[in-house]
Amino acid sequence: MTETRVLRGPLLTFREDPGGEDQPEAGSILYLEDGALWLDHGHVRAVDDYTRLAPRLPAGIEVVDYAGKLMMPGFIDSHVHYVQLDIMAAYGRQLLDWLNEYTFPEECRFAERDYAEPVAEAFLDELLRAGTTTAQVFCSSHPVSVESFFVAAHRRGLRMLAGKVLMDRNAPEALTDTALGGIRDTERLIGDWHGKGRLSYSLTPRFAPTSTRRQLDATGSLLRNAPDLYLQTHLAENRGEIDWVAELFPEAFDYLDVYERHGLVGPRSTFAHGIHLTQDARARLADAGANIAFCPTSNLFLGSGLFDRLACRKAGLAVSLASDVGAGTDLCGLGTLKAAYQVGQLLGQPLTAWQGFYHLTLGNARALQLDAHIGSLREGAEADIVVLDPRATPLLARRTARANSLGERLFALMMLGDDRAIYETWAGGKCQHRRA
Ligand code: GUN
Ligand code: ZN
Repeated sequence: MTETRVLRGPLLTFREDPGGEDQPEAGSILYLEDGALWLDHGHVRAVDDYTRLAPRLPAGIEVVDYAGKLMMPGFIDSHVHYVQLDIMAAYGRQLLDWLNEYTFPEECRFAERDYAEPVAEAFLDELLRAGTTTAQVFCSSHPVSVESFFVAAHRRGLRMLAGKVLMDRNAPEALTDTALGGIRDTERLIGDWHGKGRLSYSLTPRFAPTSTRRQLDATGSLLRNAPDLYLQTHLAENRGEIDWVAELFPEAFDYLDVYERHGLVGPRSTFAHGIHLTQDARARLADAGANIAFCPTSNLFLGSGLFDRLACRKAGLAVSLASDVGAGTDLCGLGTLKAAYQVGQLLGQPLTAWQGFYHLTLGNARALQLDAHIGSLREGAEADIVVLDPRATPLLARRTARANSLGERLFALMMLGDDRAIYETWAGGKCQHRRA
């Protein structure tokens, strides 16, 4: 297999947050109409105009031509449950009923390796079909669900974060661990997988209601002792959930305080949803350097509420973008962007295509402290790339033909595109998905 080649064609990458205005801030993007990405042993060796790079290229190097397409860094999904792939689109419930009726019964099945392994493979196939090359992933509470996922991701050479759900109360017995048993399993998984190849471990207490104080405390100790670990959980998604947390933790003055008391709020902590937060809580999250995963298709599907992105921005709180499948209805980042735009419209804060694609790539990489490796196309970055097709469908082709600027073309892609617009997905320097 050749380990070096050039991908030639239109290319877009972000260098900085483009800001919220209609046009990106000066210097925040790099767009090359006839660009070239020189890939070498899984990394980007050079990025330039093709004609400037050509004289530097070794004779006979393979050049793949993507004229009419658009290369971008692979998309990043900051919050998704692989074990919920097969309960997507389960009808008619809000969070707590949805968990009890659909989610927990399905997650019970992941006690069996024979069940977990094919779902992990199918999930990664779907992610790549959707243009996503990195995700922060909830497994189930069974260690074997985590092993199955990490084995599959490692074999494909993907950069992934994942963890075993910690849950020692208020869930079916087949899903609950114990405060210390859950931590022991977690420590073993960290030893086996954290830092192996492109994998990282994310501590995964499901959410406050399903962990005892003891379990939350022990999780906080793990994080304190190994600050390069990640942490993922849920926060303030649904009104019924918030009331339940207040009953279970009367000593805490708000939901976030539960996590703060146990040492779970840090710069590598991702809190999914954070819809119903005070500005004070947003400021505390910002001070800690944590991020909120905005999951628009999930929030609309479960009727959880409208996420106020600008209130977070005002508080200096980082927002990442996520699918939250299985409550989310679309694994593809383009679908996430479309829903984020629609939520924004209802709040009078529409999302520009610049902001949208920034968040899917460099913004999410920064929120997850992965921007040294992924999220942009630059020399030394890992070669994770999505090749978009702005003419993927007859309708998209018509709309693209009418677009007068790159901004308009991007906006059409984010509103009209879906996984048909993902022409190829490259990860670790290899083409891992090509549209049929
Ligand atoms: N809160 C606790 N668990 C879950 C989950 O699996 N999905 C969502 N959307 N919210 C949760
Ligand atoms: Zn979730």
